[in-house]
Amino acid sequence: MALRCCVMHGTRLDTARIRAARRAIDPVFLDTSLYRCEALEPGLGCTVSIKLETANPVRSFKGRGTELVVGLLADNGSQSVVCASAGNLGQALAWSGRARGLDVTVVASRFATPAKLDRIRALGAKLELVDGDHELARERAAAIAHYDGIRLLEDSLDIETCEGAATIGLELVDVDTVPSFDTVLIALGGGALATGVGHVLKDCAPEVEVICVQPLGAPAMTHSWRQRRVVTTDSTDTIADGVAGRRPIPAVLDDLLLVADDAVLVQEASIIAGMRMLLDHAGLVVEPSAALGIAAILEDRDRFAGRHVVTIVCGSNVDVDAYRRWVGTAPARGLEDCPRLRGDHPVPYPKALAVDGTPPPARGTRTPASYTRQSRRNTPACAGNTPCRRSRVARETEHPRLRGEHVCPSR
Ligand SMILES: Cc1ncc(COP(=O)(O)O)c(C=O)c1O
Repeated sequence: MALRCCVMHGTRLDTARIRAARRAIDPVFLDTSLYRCEALEPGLGCTVSIKLETANPVRSFKGRGTELVVGLLADNGSQSVVCASAGNLGQALAWSGRARGLDVTVVASRFATPAKLDRIRALGAKLELVDGDHELARERAAAIAHYDGIRLLEDSLDIETCEGAATIGLELVDVDTVPSFDTVLIALGGGALATGVGHVLKDCAPEVEVICVQPLGAPAMTHSWRQRRVVTTDSTDTIADGVAGRRPIPAVLDDLLLVADDAVLVQEASIIAGMRMLLDHAGLVVEPSAALGIAAILEDRDRFAGRHVVTIVCGSNVDVDAYRRWVGTAPARGLEDCPRLRGDHPVPYPKALAVDGTPPPARGTRTPASYTRQSRRNTPACAGNTPCRRSRVARETEHPRLRGEHVCPSR
């Protein structure tokens, strides 16, 4: 795609700074693969290219932003940094901080994906767990920064996290070997990824449609985008832990309003079907947040028919057992095997799952504590990022390494 950047006015981001950022980011995170994945196309009904952000030491795109942050901190002589994380930012910050001798503290929900917490520890960061969800972790990280006088890294608010992610956008528009695309699907959480990539696309390729995707079970930012004001929610209920925020940041929403053409919500069953398709047809193990783009296509094939869509595969940090159970419940092919998603069958699909992806017990057997059918139809039980009682039961028994961890009581 030919490059013709103009100056994108209005967002907090700056395209020249994003170009310069590439020099500060470890090359291991840059110039990731962008390729057409023909094997996905019969099941999706459109041309599909993948931007692959998982083949790096932290298995997500977050390293692009933390490299920028930590580079600046090291230049300023800072010794310490703290962040709240659902798991991927924390890993990335731990990785970048370790390389520059920084003390990194990560605050996370004790219900976060254990594999992510393990990796944060393994990378040498101090991990503090809160007895609540990601929003409580954000509050706790801010308190630590305040009382210890150390730098707080706030994902999506700190411009480096957005401009680091925005380098993905540059790689999309700078490449001229790839056939032209007309739509980019972006997982939407706090908004660093969407505002970053969206800013570059609107600046350099404004005809490309930027579509953000969130789970129905964590819709705060999408509702905010649609209503053009911050909308918060009381809880989240999704397996896509990387995007499960409840309190959008006003400045990030302002940017998103300038760069996103649409924001859509998808069902849990579609996310799981997307994960399964990426495994079956692209050979990719992805975490739920990274399947949101495929889920959006599955739910609205007519919208994407005939288009060339890029989806950013943005993370692959999964608990292997839960992943196996999730993809084991999805149809082996596309939606042609899934009557409910095809819209002509009232039966919930897939069946409700336990928090760790365990399918429901056979009729007549005793219901284990970890399995609770959701009151909301068609939705697997919460993945644990919501501090509900059932997730606590399952996680305490199944993840002993969480026991004995320092946990801050909920307020
Ligand atoms: C795998 C993955 N996808 C998507 C997102 C959402 O990104 P953002 O919070 O920048 O919107 C995250 C956030 O951590 C993530 O880890």
